[in-house]
Amino acid sequence: MKKTPTHAQRGRVIYRRLVGYALPYWRAFVFSILGMIGYAATEPALAAFMKPLLDGSFVQRDPAVIRALPFYMLAIFLARGVTGFVNTYFMKWVGRKVVADIRSKMFDHLLRLPTTYYDHHSSGILIAKLTYNVEQVAAAATQAITYLVRDGLTVLFLLGYLLYLNAKLAMILLIVGPLLALSVRYVSKRFRRVSKRIQDAMGQITHVAQETISSHRIVKAFGGIEYEQGYFANVNERTRLLQMKMIVTDAVSVPFIQLISAGGIAVIIYLSTLEALKESISPGSFMAFVVAMGLMLSPIKRLTSINSYLQKGITGAQSIFELLDTEPEPDTGTLELERAQGRIEFRGVGHCYLQDKGPVLQDINLLVEPGKTVAFVGRSGSGKTTLVNLLVRFYDATEGEILLDGVNIKELRLSSLRRQVAVVNQEVTLFNDTIGNNIAYGELRGAAPERLQRAAEAAHAMEFISKLPDGMDTLIGDRGVLLSGGQRQRLAIARAMLKDAPVLVLDEATSSLDSESERHIQAALEALIEYRTTLVIAHRLSTVEKADQIVVMENGRIVERGRHAELIAQDGRYAELYRMQFRDEADEAAR
Ligand SMILES: Nc1ncnc2c1ncn2[C@@H]1O[C@H](COP(=O)(O)OP(=O)(O)O)[C@@H](O)[C@H]1O
Ligand SMILES: [Mg+2]
Repeated sequence: MKKTPTHAQRGRVIYRRLVGYALPYWRAFVFSILGMIGYAATEPALAAFMKPLLDGSFVQRDPAVIRALPFYMLAIFLARGVTGFVNTYFMKWVGRKVVADIRSKMFDHLLRLPTTYYDHHSSGILIAKLTYNVEQVAAAATQAITYLVRDGLTVLFLLGYLLYLNAKLAMILLIVGPLLALSVRYVSKRFRRVSKRIQDAMGQITHVAQETISSHRIVKAFGGIEYEQGYFANVNERTRLLQMKMIVTDAVSVPFIQLISAGGIAVIIYLSTLEALKESISPGSFMAFVVAMGLMLSPIKRLTSINSYLQKGITGAQSIFELLDTEPEPDTGTLELERAQGRIEFRGVGHCYLQDKGPVLQDINLLVEPGKTVAFVGRSGSGKTTLVNLLVRFYDATEGEILLDGVNIKELRLSSLRRQVAVVNQEVTLFNDTIGNNIAYGELRGAAPERLQRAAEAAHAMEFISKLPDGMDTLIGDRGVLLSGGQRQRLAIARAMLKDAPVLVLDEATSSLDSESERHIQAALEALIEYRTTLVIAHRLSTVEKADQIVVMENGRIVERGRHAELIAQDGRYAELYRMQFRDEADEAAR
């Protein structure tokens, strides 16, 4: 029987995986360790300094020793400085390399994650993973290693020195260690639990803030200020409370551990004083012993905190690996299409986003011949967008199959499939870049300026672009906020024009245009539609009327299909929709 791994086992697995990221940099790591060894060796040297200082100068008054001591002192600190630098520099170097590696790996992975992953993870959380969690892991890991090796060695060296000075006294010291370890175990267990919750809460803060920042207009326009304030205050307060809990745990654990150590040391000092009187240890040796003991305190304290660092790192790493372990979009197809003719067929397609929510598409059978236009109409929520999302495999249809030029789209390479389809959505996505780079995005990057110009002209975008101070090189601001809705839409159409794909998807593409601007680009759209297979989700009459086929959707099913005149004559759902949805527009057009 296979046992489920315990917390500690999972921790070890995660830790080993993290170490894997540092392995390629083992050379720098070795340097850092050498630095640590050197640094740790200076600690007993500091304690040993006490011996000649007291015995040589004060007791024996030896002039040679007195002259040598300042140089001895300087030498120790010089060695400390150099080894400390080597240790820190190389350790941080490895740390930064690992951070950069993990980040670029995460980012690459993000680009390939399925749409469903984004549906279920807020961007705030994802950004927190990429920024906060990665930093946290690096800080925790480098710290834990430094403490473990440097302080571990320091303690060992000092212990060795103590044994060398006076074995009997040193043995007493060894009793304190286990006591410390026990108390630390108790404290760190609590710490671990709190740490995980704090990370979640931090993610929530970024999430709430990010959402509010990106939707500040809606927040203002709909009077959401108070609500958002309250919501944020709540999250903020919860985070603070959790953090206080961590602080309290920390603040309690540190003096607690110190008290135990101090108790142990008090005993040792008492016993060693007795011992020193008995055995007549020289004052220098005695001082060296006490100083070496004192020097052990902080490294021991840090050693006991290693576990909490490790736990922090492991919780952070868990959240990173959760992302990295998410399967990317399935891309098992091997066929490449040069340029599709654009024959699209839906065969018994059904789709279900969430098992418990039931199907949003059912029994879709549809054939679109190359170059033809099919218009989808139906109430919002009837599944129109889902249908076209399935075509570009943002989601994989849970039932049936979709064919492009007679080939199941799952057999095509994703990149090849998506190259065949140009999509213009209602929500135009623009990047904080120049107009030119927004039109020539992705694989179109670097398209000849003349082609860009022609695409922009055809989309009637040149009209406003030429009026801008820098023309195509004008920066359009974060997500294109400096442009009007109509201008943004025209850029999206220009992008599709430039892509010149055999299949075109217009999902309410002209909905953010007023009728004036729409009339402007109607001709452009018609030119775009003419030579290619077009799936248009229309909310305006004109595009629908001219379509070769109108498909009426209701609750995820096709309820009617045919040409405009046929469907009107049929006087069914389409005629009803037509009367309800399109009448105002028809009136307006008639005027
Ligand atoms: N990413 C998604 N996850 C879960 N359900 C979704 C998702 N997108 C759409 N839906 C649901 O699927 C149904 C159809 O939506 P959609 O295809 O967008 O309709 P339309 O474009 O016709 O307005 C709706 O009930 C909607 O709530
Ligand atoms: Mg839609």
